[in-house]
Amino acid sequence: MPKRNVAVFGAGYIGLVTSACLAELGHTVTVRDIQPERIRILCAGDIPIFEPGLGDMISRNKERLSFTLDAGEAVRDAEVVYVCVNTPPMASGDADLSRVWAVVNALKESARLSAVVVKSTVPVGTGTRIRAALDAAGLEHVGYASNPEFTAEGKAVQDFMRPDRVVVGTADDATAALLTELHAGVDGPVEVMDVASAEMVKMAANALLATKISFTNEIATMCEATGADITQVTKAIGMDHRLGPHFMNAGLGYGGSCFPKDSRALRAMASNAGYPFQLITAVIDVNELQPRRAIQRLKTRLEGLRGKRIALLGMTFKAGTDDMREAPSTTVASRLLAEGAQVRCWDPLAQPRDEEPWSSTERRATPVEAMAGADAAMIVTEWPELREVPWGEALAGMARPVLFDGRNLLDPQAMSKLGFTYLSVGRGTAVI
Ligand code: UDX
Repeated sequence: MPKRNVAVFGAGYIGLVTSACLAELGHTVTVRDIQPERIRILCAGDIPIFEPGLGDMISRNKERLSFTLDAGEAVRDAEVVYVCVNTPPMASGDADLSRVWAVVNALKESARLSAVVVKSTVPVGTGTRIRAALDAAGLEHVGYASNPEFTAEGKAVQDFMRPDRVVVGTADDATAALLTELHAGVDGPVEVMDVASAEMVKMAANALLATKISFTNEIATMCEATGADITQVTKAIGMDHRLGPHFMNAGLGYGGSCFPKDSRALRAMASNAGYPFQLITAVIDVNELQPRRAIQRLKTRLEGLRGKRIALLGMTFKAGTDDMREAPSTTVASRLLAEGAQVRCWDPLAQPRDEEPWSSTERRATPVEAMAGADAAMIVTEWPELREVPWGEALAGMARPVLFDGRNLLDPQAMSKLGFTYLSVGRGTAVI
């Protein structure tokens, strides 16, 4: 298979993973970003994000990877331009596409350019507008494809190289063939479809995963009301091959850079189309309620939160990342602080940013230190380290023995036996 010259716009999470993996497949990749600091770090041989395996992949392919601030330099020899810029939500919930358009509008006539590929998550219909803009700019001969990504943080490299499927949405066979060929070496089927359908796959897949989580969280609440155990329920449900075992862990709700943003974008897109998408609205509402409900249960158990010392164990939106975007811990910490509690945190990777409510709270190097003198501890992120905590020692240092396991990480019987008043999500008669 021929190797191509590729320009990737956006050295964020998706852009870097895409660039590294395309280089691993043998293509030559020029990565362009508008942030000088990001490009400086990359040129110095470091990577600006935390992702297992990515740094190694970038360094072993450094001959085929270059980084630049200069858009002209990036596209000069490019046969394929990938758009991997972020599309953050605006106040309305609609995705802000200004960065996507900045890339598309800067593309000039070039003899070598064969295709523009959008990986950024965009509302359905964006590809049609980009196609029209390319035509108007004299780039009728350049193909267009939507190639949404389904990579999860922490396993992004694996998700790119061994995906369940590669989705390619395009109106022309030559672009479909080019994208299929670009992915030669990727261990997964390439599913070719029209542009709008590819855009919809991304939004619908994320929305369905978010729905599965919110549904599970609602069943967990029902388990609390009835004495059932959500872990036993989801285990048996997941054995039905029509449903599958994944994304049915009850907890404090989903966070991260995709699900919250994409579910709101789907709701906004439906509303713009004049259709009130009730199911996704309910999914969002349940997710926003989930951490608040947990705080309410803790408040009842502690007979008020004012002046209470609470240890939060885990702050990132999930384990295995340093990413704090839309982390449920942010809601948990701000609610606790608003209720007058004193908050102390532990997390192995998270770095608070100034705008986060917990940036002013105390941090401790170990869970045991964070729990010293606390009236209650709450597991917010499912860090595997938390399974190894000497819980007896931690309990001995606490003012009161309350442990809220917001991720159902620990064994209820073992924790109760140690002497904890153990609360979790949907396991037994925990309703208050
Ligand atoms: C997700 C999608 O998996 C990926 O396909 C998409 O491209 C981007 O969004 P990511 O945000 O990295 O990836 O994390 P993921 O592992 O999917 O978890 C998302 C959130 O859901 C986390 O906050 C996690 O804690 C929560 N979650 C996940 C649950 O609460 N229960 C589950 O059963 C699974």
